[in-house]
Amino acid sequence: MKNIHNRKSWPSRSVFSGKDQTASPTEVSFVDTHVHTRFSDGGATIPQVEEVCRELEIGCLIVDHNEIRGSIKLLDRMKVQTMPSMEVGSREQIDLLMYFRSADEAEIFFRRHVEPYRMKRLYSFLPVSLDYLIEAAAEHEVLISMAHPFGPFWKNIEYGKKRRQVLLRILSQVDCIEVFNGAASMKANRKSQILCQSTGLIPLAGSDSHTVKGIGSVLVGFDQPATSANMYDLINNVKISGIYANGVKKHNFSNTIRIAIQHSKKIVTGKDHSTQAGREITLQRL
Ligand SMILES: [Fe+2]
Repeated sequence: MKNIHNRKSWPSRSVFSGKDQTASPTEVSFVDTHVHTRFSDGGATIPQVEEVCRELEIGCLIVDHNEIRGSIKLLDRMKVQTMPSMEVGSREQIDLLMYFRSADEAEIFFRRHVEPYRMKRLYSFLPVSLDYLIEAAAEHEVLISMAHPFGPFWKNIEYGKKRRQVLLRILSQVDCIEVFNGAASMKANRKSQILCQSTGLIPLAGSDSHTVKGIGSVLVGFDQPATSANMYDLINNVKISGIYANGVKKHNFSNTIRIAIQHSKKIVTGKDHSTQAGREITLQRL
């Protein structure tokens, strides 16, 4: 696996056909697989995500906490190469990144297994077990990635014996490991890479950006053109050429502040961007 590369060395590639802002994007080679928007605790709107992706010539997977609407909105607008995705948190406070083959699969899963359990004052976690979520996901075409396995505090696989046992057991039931997370330390990311190599799981990476500026600071490179139609298969068949990161550190402070403010607001008031943003789009696929 290649490691950290400077974005300046990335090949120049035209992502959009012509100057028409509404034109469907052509294929991309690089995708940020972990971005949060105002549909959960992030700061970016969907048009802002599109603008950044257009500028950087990348694809983007929106993984809002227990929320699929922003991701499907990005897919439906067809300006950025993407696929339906979500970050789902379990009762044990373990985050799983879920990448769905289709919007229909994503909506069915969301309606049955996520929406009924969402909590008014918490973004990240559902009061259901990790086993329940993994079993439910098995009924759908979904790639599951273990997010930031060595993240801070309770997000760390080494945070207590019980947690370690749960996570090690779950490793045999997931497809991918996030080997580079833009919000995690270099040490944590190195440990994730070693864990991934020892398990043979598929390596993924993403900025975990909660701000507009951080989008695209960590990317998965594909060894063939990626589109919304083939991205699921490219990951599933490990058509990955490398993991790329640039400018991560300078975004981390604003990222952390953003998360702290937004989660505090949610705990105190029960209100958030997603309450507002959710009114803009209704899931109507079923
Ligand atoms: Fe995240």
